[in-house]
Amino acid sequence: MGKDVIIACDFDSAEKVFTFLDKFTGRKPFVKIGMELYYAEGPSIVKEIKKRGHKIFLDLKLHDIPNTVKKSMAVLSRLDVDMTNLHAAGTGRMMEAAIEGLTREDGTRPMLIAVTQLTSTDEETMKKDLLIDAPIADVVMHYAENAKNSGLDGVVCSPLEAGKVHERCGEGFVTVTPGVRFADGDIGDQKRVMTPAEAKKIGSDYIVVGRPITAAEDPVAAYERCVAEFVD
Ligand code: C5P
Repeated sequence: MGKDVIIACDFDSAEKVFTFLDKFTGRKPFVKIGMELYYAEGPSIVKEIKKRGHKIFLDLKLHDIPNTVKKSMAVLSRLDVDMTNLHAAGTGRMMEAAIEGLTREDGTRPMLIAVTQLTSTDEETMKKDLLIDAPIADVVMHYAENAKNSGLDGVVCSPLEAGKVHERCGEGFVTVTPGVRFADGDIGDQKRVMTPAEAKKIGSDYIVVGRPITAAEDPVAAYERCVAEFVD
């Protein structure tokens, strides 16, 4: 499977995302569409970006009863996205139902990856709010193994966890890692960050990069810099 840079297109309107994507006249980047853009514009934004030749990671993080997730995944699968996701906390049964829903009649399906614990949740909050007593690293690995056993393709995780996930779940189990910053860049609200080159060294399969590209003076140059450090 190819390593790639995914741009987090965290915009709140079609107009803004198209103004941004119009700058990319050469290579068409893999893009992530999250809740903000999807809820603002609906499924048509996915179809339009796909039509422009981009691969799409639809980041909607589903978490509901297995039957609802299965039916919703069937709808998302028809949008012909390349990757989508859910919360591993929804349990193995929910993840298996998601795979069933996502699988098209011809047996193909988008890649499905799981969110383990959100990086915004720390060990203290997990104990206090969720009453989960295990160390957070163990919880993340347990959720990753559950995802693998349910037939999923990989997990979203911190680049710092990618090596460990591969050790536990195999090299073929995909790691998609946000929290990437250039060595000379602003880290913003991300806490644990890595450069694209470090993420490559540690074995991330895909890096998700938002503001270091979207807020750059020259987004195409910033994207090409990520590709040069991470893929080439
Ligand atoms: O702008 P920045 O590079 O921080 O964007 C990172 C993207 O990855 C955002 O879309 C954010 O929602 C997403 N993400 C994250 N941490 C996670 C899961 C997703 O930063 N654990």
